[in-house]
Amino acid sequence: MAINFIGTGRAVPSKKVSNDDLAARIDTSDEWIRSHTGIGSRYHADESVACSDLAIEAAKNALAMAAGYTGDDPAQRDSKAAEFAETIDVIILATATADFFGTPSTACIVQDKIGAKNAAAMDITAGCTGFVYGLETAAGLLCVGKERKRALVIGSEILSKMTNWEDRNTCVLFGDGAGAAVLEKTGECCDNKSGLIKTLLYADGSGRDSLVMRRGGSRSPYKKGETVDLGIWIEMNGQEVYNFAVGAMTSTIEQLIKECNINIDDISWIVPHQANARIVKAARIRLKIPAEKVYMNIEEYANTSAATIPIALDEMNRSGKLKKGDLILTVGFGGGLTYGGNIIIW
Ligand code: UT7
Repeated sequence: MAINFIGTGRAVPSKKVSNDDLAARIDTSDEWIRSHTGIGSRYHADESVACSDLAIEAAKNALAMAAGYTGDDPAQRDSKAAEFAETIDVIILATATADFFGTPSTACIVQDKIGAKNAAAMDITAGCTGFVYGLETAAGLLCVGKERKRALVIGSEILSKMTNWEDRNTCVLFGDGAGAAVLEKTGECCDNKSGLIKTLLYADGSGRDSLVMRRGGSRSPYKKGETVDLGIWIEMNGQEVYNFAVGAMTSTIEQLIKECNINIDDISWIVPHQANARIVKAARIRLKIPAEKVYMNIEEYANTSAATIPIALDEMNRSGKLKKGDLILTVGFGGGLTYGGNIIIW
């Protein structure tokens, strides 16, 4: 009895934007961005692309893999994915950049467009920890509902549209992308032998102002006649979030290891949320974790928030880095503030 990962997928927009491309538009440089964050590029969606569009692509790739198809023929992928989508009972979509404010959820749009006609669907908002929260939410729903067998968990973000392009402190940090995983329940509940073994979820709402999209909600709605210059964008106190992130990452890894009665040597891969390579390095050094155990892809994608961990899992899965039986530790932190992590046996 377990909650196993039977498919992964990812999608990023085709437009890759280098640090030099940004430096041509704003007052920054490749040298500053790389040395302060480890970021070399990011992907930006076209104007017409919304969160659900990337989520659907990632979901189809994950569903097709779950159905046994890993080829690159789009028509075959679509038909395998559509067939498998009907077997999905739950869709959880983690995002801070939903298609619409409030309703409908982006998960419902995905549910319709992939043809998951038997699935419940909902979004969750847990910032960059969204996928970590999403896995546990999906696993809980699978465990609690005897009749439910499969879940689709997605992290998807279009952060480039929610960024203040006049604020160099934030706009260089974020990218667009989506990642997805299909979970399958075998038996009645978790058996600690494979799949999702353990999750820690935490929040510290006292830090809510250090990473915030201030406008548009019921606290501060746009008013008729108001001129909207920049729209809704992310404001961040970088130093505060940095300090929180190093502590949250360190304590989550320590607690997961302790509560699962394992040590660092038992772990095949640590898959961290990637907001800044220096955050990951600081936690890694504190915990004496070898660099080669930590999967990094921030250089290519920048910070894709809730999409970061599932994009990384899919890259690792498809490139053969993940072997059956590997012990994986994910760890995330972000807006809310939230943090947490999962232990997974692949
Ligand atoms: O996933 C969500 C969670 N988010 C995070 O975890 C982000 C956490 N925070 C960070 O990663 C870092 O704090 C930042 C990358 C945001 C900033 O790095 P930093 O090393 O803490 O830089 P700083 O804030 O100390 O700024 C240093 C200088 C400033 O100039 P002055 O005032 O010293 O002259 C900034 O104006 O760097 C300047 N600066 C830039 N310069 C060139 C800030 N952004 C840029 C930029 N290009 N893009």
